[in-house]
Amino acid sequence: MDKKLQSINLNKIPNHIAVIMDGNGRWAKNKGMQRVFGHRNALTAIRETADTASELGVKYLTMYAFSTENWNRPKFEVDALMSLLITTLKKELPEFQRKNVKINSIGDTQSLPKSAQKVLNKVIEETKNNTKITLSFALSYGSREEIVNTIKNISKKVVNKELDIEKIDQNIINNHLYTFNLPDVDLMIRTSGEQRISNFLLWQMAYAELYFTEILWPDFRKENLFDAIIDYQNRERRFGKTSEQIKTNE
Ligand code: FPP
Repeated sequence: MDKKLQSINLNKIPNHIAVIMDGNGRWAKNKGMQRVFGHRNALTAIRETADTASELGVKYLTMYAFSTENWNRPKFEVDALMSLLITTLKKELPEFQRKNVKINSIGDTQSLPKSAQKVLNKVIEETKNNTKITLSFALSYGSREEIVNTIKNISKKVVNKELDIEKIDQNIINNHLYTFNLPDVDLMIRTSGEQRISNFLLWQMAYAELYFTEILWPDFRKENLFDAIIDYQNRERRFGKTSEQIKTNE
């Protein structure tokens, strides 16, 4: 058995892991190839991360696949990412079913090409009763845009007198975010050595443990996920309490 796997405490597995898959372009460049080659080679890492997370008992995995800012990349790269999304979702659907994976998306998905929306909606609909793990893809996602959208939707309810302004609390906000059906993030992993959150799940990561690794995303494998989880398990999550309170479970 894998030595790293043995040192993981299966009773302390993060419930929700979020991943910023960074470094595809650099990975391709290092090999003298075009950036898109890196995106294509990202798929093995996505599959292995999802499979391993699921086997360990992680219930929610959220992957940053395309940010609102990514629309500013060269058209060639945006088109390539969209077709990669479409072909991957089509091809993987039987695997999602076999592995009992529920697919979800967060973001302004209305701005994706119609063909991408169609396959995405189909995969979400067909996997909606799966229960092993929820795999969410952040697509045309930006946390600030999400918060603006949330404020608009809550304001409309206030204006229409469906909601009393005094009733607005953290729960109401949670219920209007794209992540309304997801719990808070426990562990955020970012690859490629960059140490930023880059407009990802700002509200949802309020108490997340952040883990940064130099590995470029296409090279990320299950041992790297084990490392991140071991690191997470060695941290003390206090949620504002003292260390003593946490130890005595007060
Ligand atoms: C970051 O690397 C990666 C992205 C912006 C895109 C990630 C998307 C995928 C892996 C494919 C999406 C497909 C599915 C099925 C969800 P980068 O290009 O910013 O790398 P760099 O920082 O080295 O330039």
